[in-house]
This record gives sequence, C-alpha cells and structure tokens, in this order.
Amino acid sequence: MFAKALILSSVALLVSAVNYDVNVGGLNGENPILKFNPEFVNGVVGDTVTFHFQQKNHSVVETSFNSVCSPLRDPTTYQPVFQTPFHPVANTDTEFPTEVYTIQDASKPLWFYCSQKLHCGKGMIFSINCPASGANSLDNFRAAALAIGAQEAAASSSAAAWSSTATPDVYGTQTYAPIYAPTVTQTVTFAESTWTTTYQSYANSPDPTPIAAEGVTHTITVGGNNGLTYDPPSIQANVRDTVKFVFAAKNHTVTQSSFNQPCRKLSLTNPDQTAFDSGFIPGAADGSASFSIKVNDTKPIWAYCRQGNHCGSGMVFSINADESSERSFAAFQALARTINGTAAGAPSATPTGNAAFASASLFGGVATVVLAGFASVAAVLL
Ligand SMILES: *[C@@H]1O[C@H](CO)[C@@H](O)[C@H](O)[C@H]1NC(C)=O
Ligand SMILES: *[C@@H]1O[C@H](CO)[C@@H](O)[C@H](O)[C@H]1NC(C)=O
Ligand SMILES: *[C@@H]1O[C@H](CO)[C@@H](O)[C@H](O)[C@H]1NC(C)=O
Ligand SMILES: *[C@@H]1O[C@H](CO)[C@@H](O)[C@H](O)[C@H]1NC(C)=O
Repeated sequence: MFAKALILSSVALLVSAVNYDVNVGGLNGENPILKFNPEFVNGVVGDTVTFHFQQKNHSVVETSFNSVCSPLRDPTTYQPVFQTPFHPVANTDTEFPTEVYTIQDASKPLWFYCSQKLHCGKGMIFSINCPASGANSLDNFRAAALAIGAQEAAASSSAAAWSSTATPDVYGTQTYAPIYAPTVTQTVTFAESTWTTTYQSYANSPDPTPIAAEGVTHTITVGGNNGLTYDPPSIQANVRDTVKFVFAAKNHTVTQSSFNQPCRKLSLTNPDQTAFDSGFIPGAADGSASFSIKVNDTKPIWAYCRQGNHCGSGMVFSINADESSERSFAAFQALARTINGTAAGAPSATPTGNAAFASASLFGGVATVVLAGFASVAAVLL
C-alpha cells in the first residue's frame, strides 16, 4: 500500500511538470517575424520552455528587467546565465532546431531576448512569469527594449555608435552589465491625494505607491559600539518614508555617493544631482545627534562615511538596492573596499544622450506614462 502510494506520488510529480512550446522568429509571407510566440508563459519550478527556432537567425538569451538587451551574468563568473547559440534557419527549411529552458526559480519574473543585432530593440522579447501589470510588466519591458532600439537607430548614424552589445562597465576590478532602467513618470493616487512621481523602473524596483501617506521612519544607528557601521547597513524603503540616522559615537557622516564610485560624493561625480550630506556629526550616546532624509524615488540610494578611511573599510549604506542583481549591497560594499579611498575605479563617461522617448499608456488607464530609455545616464544614477 505504502509503496503504491509512493509510486503514484512520483508519477504525479512527473506529470505535473509542463512543457511550453514557444516559436522564435519565422516568416509572415516574405517578412521575418521578430517576435516570440507566445511572448510570455507562466510556469512553476521544473516546467520547461522549448524554444523552436523558425526561419532567419535567432538566439535566446536571459536578461533582467533593468538590463534588457544585455545578458544576465553570473555575479561570480560574469558568464551569461542562459544563452543559446544562433540558429540560422533557411526560408525553405521545414525542420526547426530547439533549445530547452528549465524553470529553476518561479519566485520572480524571468526575462529573455534575441541577441541578433537590432532584434531586441525591435521588441523581440520574452518573459516567464511576468506580472500582468505594474512597473515590471511585459509592456514596460518591451517599451524599454524599444527605447533601446530607438537609441540604436539614432546612434547608428553617428560616429559614437552605441550598440546593444556595449561593453560592460568596469568598476574597480569588477565587471557589470550596463543598466537600462527606464525613467517612468506616473500619477499616483493614494488615499485622497494624487501626485506625480518620477521613478526608475528596473528589476524588483519598489512599487511607486507609498504604503502610508506620510511614510514611515526607518532608524539607522551610525557608529554604534564605536564600530565603522550603519546598522542596519541596507534597507528597503518606500517613497515618502523618512530615514533617520542616529549618530551614536565617534565622528561620522552619511554622504550620498553612487554605486560605481562608492566613496566619492555624488555631487562631485554627478553635479546635476541634488545629493545629501550630513556633514561631520559627533555621536551622542543619548540619541540626540541625528540627520534625516526623505525617500523621493524608487531608485537605489547609495551612501558612505567621509571620515578618514571609513568608506574603504566598508562603512557604506544603501536604500532599495536590488539584492537579486549585480548591484547588490554586498557588491557595493565590496567595491568600496576594493577602491579603498583611491579614485580608482571611476568609469569613463560614455554619454549616450537620451534622444529616445516613447509614449505609452501602460497602467490600465489610470496613469499617463512617459518612458525614456537611458543607458549610462541610468548607470550613474543607480
Ligand atoms: C547568424 O547570426 C550570427 C550573429 O549575428 C552570425 O555570426 C552568423 O554568421 C549568422 N549565421 C548565418 C548563417 O547567417
Ligand atoms: C570630525 O571630523 C572632521 C574631519 O576629520 C574634523 O574636521 C572635525 O574637527 C571632527 N569633529 C570633532 C568634534 O572631532
Ligand atoms: C528628497 O527631496 C527633498 C526635497 O527636494 C530633498 O531635500 C532630499 O534630499 C531628497 N531626498 C533624497 C534622498 O535625495
Ligand atoms: C585600506 O587602505 C589602508 C591604507 O592604505 C589599509 O591600511 C587598509 O587595510 C585598507 N582596507 C581594506 C579593507 O583593504
């Protein structure tokens, strides 16, 4: 009886894995179809997606929401996590090569594109488990890809041609995929108030809607137990929240920086940005020495202590770092330690402009949304 139940349950397990067939490319009469069909599927861990490569010459590469059109890389090896070869298929072929992707994580949306030149920028994208609406919807992902395509079109005529295979950013000794985080301006209605917010839509970006009209206060202890620490060192916060730094001991600052230059004031590396800096604040055991900032946006905020070599020792802080991306808090702190007070690791500026603007209504009629594609601009902000 027991053995039979065991067999039945393992049969049930085998049966429960579903395969989804997805066509990649193909022809519509004479014209190439630069699309995945269907454009998304919803599956669970163990389910498979079989990509059927139709006519022309396509590939399937995994990416992330914020780096659409660039491969998602393993944080340790920097190798693409999933990338098929190109499969050239002649117009007259009747047999189509296949590649299989097995879903290993169903807790978050998975994003893909075709890495053939210009195809991603024409909207050749695919997703597993994309949310039906909201900041990280398939429509927003496609809009970000199309914005890159518009940049490619604009850049192809200029000498400083930018391409989707742009070389990764190198900060310190690490390599990071370029970030593409479209800036979204959205009208948000919450309780009885309505306002316009601008934020960057990237993988796992927080929802632009605050959870309370006045926000909540997050308290961070600076230099507690005489350590070179912010405690906690990394938080997730919503728009309208307050982050209150309580200076407990010694003489520290909390100064805004950027991911790629952890130990330099943001106002020095990017003068267009309004950046906060508490200045030096001697600690007080009674909690009376404090400095507060308001969270205005969903984009990650990076900060450090300007005192001596504190930053190079890892005294850094972040709000809304995307822990599932290459630009996690741990990566930021590691970069601060690598750079350790030197100006090394400053990436060369590669301005691309932001010529590309695409308009779309993406939030179920509630909001008017303007999407702009930014490449290095966003990399500086994030
Ligand atoms: C397919 O595309 C890749 C990448 O652009 C290219 O290197 C390759 O030569 C192409 N193959 C054919 C047969 O066109
Ligand atoms: C705090 O540190 C700054 C920079 O090192 C220094 O100029 C200032 O005098 C210090 N303040 C106190 C009270 O020690
Ligand atoms: C939020 O906006 C206020 C007012 O413009 C500004 O003083 C503050 O520094 C901003 N917060 C951050 C984290 O940039
Ligand atoms: C940073 O550099 C200082 C002096 O150059 C050195 O003493 C310290 O150990 C370094 N810190 C780290 C975390 O490497």
